[in-house]
Amino acid sequence: MVIILIIGGSSSQKLAAKVSKELDDYLCPVETRKFPDGERYIRFKDEIEKEVTVIQSTAFPQDESYMELFFMLKNLKDLGAEEIKVVIPYFGYGRQELRFKPGEAISAQTIAELLEFAGATELFSVNFHESSVKDFFNIPVNELSAMPPIAEYIKSNIEEPVIIAPDKGALHHAQAITSILNTKCDYMEKVRLSPDMVETNVKSLDVDGENTVIIDDIISTGGTIVNAVNILKNHNAKSVTVSCVHPVLVGDAVLKIFATGVKNIISTDTISSETNMISIAPLIANAIK
Ligand code: R5P
Repeated sequence: MVIILIIGGSSSQKLAAKVSKELDDYLCPVETRKFPDGERYIRFKDEIEKEVTVIQSTAFPQDESYMELFFMLKNLKDLGAEEIKVVIPYFGYGRQELRFKPGEAISAQTIAELLEFAGATELFSVNFHESSVKDFFNIPVNELSAMPPIAEYIKSNIEEPVIIAPDKGALHHAQAITSILNTKCDYMEKVRLSPDMVETNVKSLDVDGENTVIIDDIISTGGTIVNAVNILKNHNAKSVTVSCVHPVLVGDAVLKIFATGVKNIISTDTISSETNMISIAPLIANAIK
């Protein structure tokens, strides 16, 4: 019988435990700590099998999470693992997939090359910010969609929801949910002025008296969502619920969003957060088994 080991990195402990429970696979204990100077130490406390799955999200602190992941992968390769599946529920550095201005580093490409060098033989991630990052890899890449579990949650918790994308880029997510729930959707026009400033232009939206649900892939500073909530309120929405796949939620984003009077912020657990209402453990378990 082939034993599949699941290894949970520091940033995805709970998720890795849930995935191993779903699959009845063995969770390998890992010792991770830092030396007094801040450098990282990794040790697998069990024998390494031929097939291994490592789960490590790479939101803040991105650099530390990636460094730990690279150490784990290279160590697995050296210790004899032949099939090393890597699950990165939130793919950090995925937003710099192009050289937008001359001289910029294409961070996503470097990360892809380092993952392969370290030993990854297959990658799984959930809703890349830009799906084109897949092209940087030579190994198989599986992009999973969190829209079905998010749609399920909305169906069970919100009556007759109208799904709203806060910008055109998120419209395909709104449409994916709408096609599952058979409900209405719309989107707003957004312009990003700087990394933490966005301007959202009002369109005519038909949300008067409706229970609205905003869907975005990422909530980072919360600027996009705050603008969208204010617009929905000005259009007399009955309630506004905010949903996202990846709760990056930097600084006081949660406070800023709740201060607008939203009903709730719901997210998946690709990144650990108080907003995690939906687990993607079954989605991952199903993909890697
Ligand atoms: C942008 O294209 C993304 O889909 C999100 O809308 C964006 O990352 C959210 O950023 P923030 O919360 O800082 O407005």
